[in-house]
Formats: sequence, structure tokens, C-alpha cells
Amino acid sequence: MTKPTPFIAGNWKMNETIAEAIALVEALKAEIQGVSGVDIAVAPTFTALDRVAGAVKGSNIQLAAQNVHWEKSGAFTGEIAPAMLSEIGCAWAIIGHSERRQFFGETDEGVNKRARAAIANGIGAIVCVGETLDEREAGKTLEVVGRQVTEGLKGMSAEDSRLLVIAYEPVWAIGTGKVATTAQAQEVHAHIRQLLKAQFGDEAGAAVRIQYGGSVKPSNAAELLAQPDINGALVGGASLKAADFAAIIKAV
Ligand code: PGA
Repeated sequence: MTKPTPFIAGNWKMNETIAEAIALVEALKAEIQGVSGVDIAVAPTFTALDRVAGAVKGSNIQLAAQNVHWEKSGAFTGEIAPAMLSEIGCAWAIIGHSERRQFFGETDEGVNKRARAAIANGIGAIVCVGETLDEREAGKTLEVVGRQVTEGLKGMSAEDSRLLVIAYEPVWAIGTGKVATTAQAQEVHAHIRQLLKAQFGDEAGAAVRIQYGGSVKPSNAAELLAQPDINGALVGGASLKAADFAAIIKAV
């Protein structure tokens, strides 16, 4: 079976003012002009989304949000509804990032609600999963990631899976400079692939992109992306430098 189109997304986290975000995306546009055969997205802060949407119009860069709520509107202080993201041209939302789980109490159940609401509104859901160092050392990696995938995707159909991306990000590899070995990453990706095929069927399960995330850099991207079940990357730190992010995209 042929591999799905690779997908490289940059998670800018709580970085870049609006002016800095525009400068970064303009620099990126220049670096990757004419690059094809790979889907590309950047996830600025909510305040920069609208202006960055204007800057990427007509380019090969898509827009992602860093979270999304499941309700349409109402008393949910600090949250953003799916239609509000669609309104400004947001194609994707990152959901259940380990920083959201770790610092803001997000649960598998909430991840599931957010992801299903995004997809129901035509927004692609990048569902993040990954084990902590303690869980890896206790031999629980596949169990933890398996639970996050199963619970996070509960109730989704094969049709829904067309707007689904999984990002496997070992928590111990995020922002630490420690990257999983290609064998460690591929092992978890293969496990996720099995779960996707079990839920969505072989064909739809094979078509879901599984990104790797955690200290992805120009120097390690090509080797990771060459693994059979790695279909892209979710990049944090290196996505804040246009040249580095472009080099990762070109490593595809
Ligand atoms: P990092 O972050 O590339 O800085 O490790 C990845 C992420 O959190 O998505």
C-alpha cells in the first residue's frame, strides 16, 4: 500500500507576537516556494491566527489552531468554537497536546469531544498522544498510547478518519533535545496503525497520517520520515526558525 501524503506541521505554542508571526510565515513562504508532495501547516497563537491566515492565502501553507472546544458557543470562558476557526480559514486543530494534558488537565474524554467536534465542522483534528518517561521506563508505552488512541477516537467512523491525524509525541522527547530512536518511534507508530485499522478498516486505517513529534530537527527528520508508519512530523522548537522548518519539510 502506498504511503499517504506526508504532513509536516509547526506548533508555535505560546510564541511570537502578531508581527513576529507574520515575519516568520513570510520567511517560511520564501523558503518553501514550489515545494509539493507534502502537506504543510503552521499553528500560531489564537491572536495571530487571523493575520497569518491572510499571509498564507494562496500559498502551500495551511493554518492550524492549537486547540478547539466542542460546543458551538456559550459560557466556556477561554475556549474557541470550531466555527470560529473555520471562519478565519483554519483547516486544522491540534488537540490533546501533552502540554494541555499536563498543565491544563485535559483528559482522553475531552480530547475525544474536541476531536469529534472539529471533524464534524470540517476541521482536521491532529490528536496528540504519547507516554511520559516514567511510563516508558515502566514498560507501559504501548498500553498508555493505546488507551489514548482508543479513548481519543471513540465513536469516530471511517468517514471521520479522513480528517484525522495522529501525532505520536513521547513526552520525554518534547523540547528536551532527546529524540526517540527511529526503532522506538516506528514501534509505537506500528501499534497505532494496528489500532487505526481495527477501528476504521485496513484501507482507511492505512490512510490516516501518523506524525512523529519531539525534538524533530533538520538533522534527524529524514531518518524518522523514512520509517514505514511515520507520515510526517509535528515540530515545536524547530518550527520557529524558517530555515530549520523548511529543511524538515524538504527532508520529506
Ligand atoms: P519540540 O516540540 O519539537 O520542541 O520537541 C514538539 C511538540 O510539542 O509538538
